[in-house]
Amino acid sequence: MDRGRLERGRQRVAAARSLVALTGAGVSAESGVPTFRGEEALWERFRPEELATPQAFRDDPVRVWRWYAWRRDRVARSAPNAAHRALARVAAAGRLTIVTQNVDGLHGLAADELDAEADRSRARPLELHGSLFRVRCTGCDRRRPHREPLRVEDASTLPRCRSCGALLRPDVVWFGEPLDASLLETAYEAAAAADLCLVVGTSAVVHPAAGIATVTVRAGGELLEVNPEATPLSAIATISLRAPAAEAVPALLVGS
Ligand code: OAD
Repeated sequence: MDRGRLERGRQRVAAARSLVALTGAGVSAESGVPTFRGEEALWERFRPEELATPQAFRDDPVRVWRWYAWRRDRVARSAPNAAHRALARVAAAGRLTIVTQNVDGLHGLAADELDAEADRSRARPLELHGSLFRVRCTGCDRRRPHREPLRVEDASTLPRCRSCGALLRPDVVWFGEPLDASLLETAYEAAAAADLCLVVGTSAVVHPAAGIATVTVRAGGELLEVNPEATPLSAIATISLRAPAAEAVPALLVGS
């Protein structure tokens, strides 16, 4: 990691009155959670149109649930890394809002790990794309947390709604579906109010989530990127740290 850039980044973080962090799959890579794009990433091995669209679920709910059960299993065996923990600590102190595209729940677990006197609720992220550990009813639209074991052998064992009996689906945003409007508005407000947006581990190609970072820049703030690779946001970033999140993020936030 470039020490000069890190030091300049640290100074900007320390000077910022209000921060927003936009995170993507890369922030969880060092926790062992696969990313979507890149070598051996999920979208190299699986076809999104067969697994992550409302049509795919209508056509073959068993196939879709099997994939989500597999992903849940992988995530359940992983833990927050130093980047999730550093972000949670600073967010709990009140100066940072965490906005994530991730559905793995690791930012939330990092918030749960904070000391009892910390403001854990402030450390919880806005999960723009939903959660692997929540379900939504395809009949009555009720949502609820869901961590119990999944049985995905065939259609008769798939999880069903306790209220109306209809099939439950993962409460995640699929391709072609809108994001929760009020969540998105809250994220935009935090981004517009921030003088610094920390963009961590996202390829920044999925919208509207990636647009959060440009909201900060348009409102006069700066962008600090942590990603081993260049992204479409690199061109407007004041500083790009080409380093893994678990190394760069704690180093940036030390003392904050
Ligand atoms: P991607 O898989 O598209 O991008 C992951 C990014 O993380 C890449 O830019 C990598 O260079 C970077 N990366 C890899 N290892 C890293 C590390 N150790 N530290 C920091 N960065 C690292 O994931 P997202 O940008 O999150 O949407 O993808 C956005 C959305 O596309 C996802 O939320 C999902 C997907 O389709 C839906 O499912 C709706």
